[in-house]
Amino acid sequence: MDKELKELMLKFDFAKRRLETELQILLEEFQFKNGYNPVEHTKSRIKSYDSIVKKLERKGYELTADNILRHVHDVVGLRIVCSFVSDVYDIINIIKSSHQFIVKNESDYIKNPKNSGYTSYHINILVPVHLEGKTEYIEAEVQIRTVAMDCWASLDHKLRYKLNSISDELENGMLQCADKMIEIDKQMQQLCELVRKERESNKEEVL
Ligand code: GTP
Ligand code: MG
Repeated sequence: MDKELKELMLKFDFAKRRLETELQILLEEFQFKNGYNPVEHTKSRIKSYDSIVKKLERKGYELTADNILRHVHDVVGLRIVCSFVSDVYDIINIIKSSHQFIVKNESDYIKNPKNSGYTSYHINILVPVHLEGKTEYIEAEVQIRTVAMDCWASLDHKLRYKLNSISDELENGMLQCADKMIEIDKQMQQLCELVRKERESNKEEVL
């Protein structure tokens, strides 16, 4: 790896750390205000050098720092797994209303699932990285999903990974599982709202 690429990888690492820290603070503030933590767990990663090379090759670009910045949008990746569908949108609002990041683009695969059955909310943001004398903006892909969506995506990845072609049976089976998962999330959301109402009325009774 030449010096320019090494420097770029270092910037990706700075951006990942900045993103983790800023988000942690925003979530703690949310928890303080609302008395509720919407996050089950988070996972961040830097795309491996080999995967970056492969992605550029697949897209038909040669390996340069400029091409990585232009064409690989998920070198810095953060996944936020939360409890309920409403939490996904709360977290999106937290990110969008923060002045720490610039929103580049977003895809709501919850409202519009992918053909595979995949659901999640993707938001690509620019994270400011302060370097000697200047600030650079590094892109990060944030995937936000419920535990049910995460369960589906993990198993889907495991089942499809390294398969050259996917049988109709596997494809239909995964779509059926996706439908069931969406149903579970809907029901869980209703239960969440039920519990919130019960807690509110308990509070009123105590007062
Ligand atoms: P990229 O250039 O790869 O980012 O393609 P894209 O921008 O068209 O895709 P998008 O950002 O919508 O999705 C990319 C990421 O979403 C993948 O790296 C996976 O983590 C996840 N993803 C998308 N589709 C599927 C799917 O069908 N199954 C699973 N398990 N994950 C998916
Ligand atoms: Mg993408």
